[in-house]
Amino acid sequence: MTSKPSFPKNFLWGGAIAANQAEGAWNIDGKGPSVADAITWKPNVSLKDYSAHMALTDENIADALKGKNDELYPKRRGIDFYHRYKEDLALFAEMGCKVLRVSIAWSRIFPTGEDSEPNEAGLAFYHDLFSEMRRLNIEPLVTLSHYEMPLVLSEKYNGWVHRNVVDAFVRFCRMCFERYKDLVVYWLTFNEIDSIRRHPFTTAGIREEKSAEGCAEQDIYQGLHHQFVASALVTRDCHAIIPGSQVGCMLTKLTTYPRTCKPEDVEATLKKNLENLFYADVQVFGAYPPLVTRDLERRGIHIEMQPGDAETLRANTVDFVSFSYYMSLTESTQPDAERIPGNTILGVKNPYLPASEWGWQIDPVGLKISLLELYDRYQKPLFIVECGLGAKDEVVAGKIHDDYRIDYFRAHFEQVKNAIDEGVEVMGFTTWGAIDIISAGTSQMSKRYGFIYVDQDDEGAGSLARLRKDSFYWYQKVIATNGADM
Ligand code: BG6
Repeated sequence: MTSKPSFPKNFLWGGAIAANQAEGAWNIDGKGPSVADAITWKPNVSLKDYSAHMALTDENIADALKGKNDELYPKRRGIDFYHRYKEDLALFAEMGCKVLRVSIAWSRIFPTGEDSEPNEAGLAFYHDLFSEMRRLNIEPLVTLSHYEMPLVLSEKYNGWVHRNVVDAFVRFCRMCFERYKDLVVYWLTFNEIDSIRRHPFTTAGIREEKSAEGCAEQDIYQGLHHQFVASALVTRDCHAIIPGSQVGCMLTKLTTYPRTCKPEDVEATLKKNLENLFYADVQVFGAYPPLVTRDLERRGIHIEMQPGDAETLRANTVDFVSFSYYMSLTESTQPDAERIPGNTILGVKNPYLPASEWGWQIDPVGLKISLLELYDRYQKPLFIVECGLGAKDEVVAGKIHDDYRIDYFRAHFEQVKNAIDEGVEVMGFTTWGAIDIISAGTSQMSKRYGFIYVDQDDEGAGSLARLRKDSFYWYQKVIATNGADM
């Protein structure tokens, strides 16, 4: 007789948000501008063209540095989590969330990144936030870098290209560990560290147009190397300052299938998947994979490493592997294969899968495949720290009937349960945007992921009132029964 799979007793059910998409208060209480504050909402830009949504101009940067002109900048206002976090945490607690993933805005603590003293008002905000979470029995899971480095640092050094940024980040993180050591156990270093190649400005403050001619790729890999080293140093410091703490890496899991069984398609797919795994490989195994080293050499990319970097990477690997998972894609060598949008990436359409209104293909089995693959490769506990459906919700007589979101999560949770039954160790699942926030990719408010609706439109109009969607009550039941009743 086979036993029914079930979630472990201490499974961490919860939600996830990021400071730059939720907090707002972008220039309040001493916060400095971050890279996110320079990104504008652009109506009528093709959904396929994520790089156009994330593009910025010198004028945007100047506006952000001068602190003016904010109606087109949704990330500056977020959903005003900064002032409403108590109300929001109460709703998360009502849903039964055991964990909430949030990030710390670096420029709230060090407004320019290199200030001689930290901003005490910023430190106090996160102290109060984490204390309130503890009071409500919500475990904080804290990301140290989620697309929000100080804009001044980005401008001064072309972001992470310069080694000084490693020192500035390590100092910021040490400050967080010292101040929050009694409140936070679980930490993530860089959100979707692989995204530096797809959107280097938001991930690492790097503007390709600032690179010397022909050096843009080289600069991106140099910035990435600095993030790897910083992540290792920060992991070391976290373990030293907070005994028993756990630090994870965070990867965008871009699961890709071959479009056909033609060997060329299979090879192209393998390479895509290996490229995706490389980032976690470095943080789990503590070294660059030989195939990546050779590939960089062949492409003429030289990463400047300082003496001691290799040892730093080797000695400070992560405790667990976290990742985001939204969709899967396929790969093909056929030039005419139809390319569709995914999470800041284009890939070939899979005829077997439905897609969201933004074209992201919905593939719950792909989540199970990802779990099996990652666990087999790393043999470390896994944490799904983002997954969700961006959709337009309609409010009818004060209610939001979002059965599409319930269906999406039910199917994904089922697959997690199956993976656990097959032996995968999963620490928890924090659904993306458990409350509606500003989209990272398109800066839209109308791309909603939450169980909690926030009354605000793309232009920023609305009361900001919070409403429970149907999915709120459904998730509450899922958590209360530890996934037995879905
Ligand atoms: C992830 C990011 O890639 O995808 C989040 O870590 C983001 O910040 C999420 O919000 C969903 O993407 P989008 O563009 O729909 O907000």
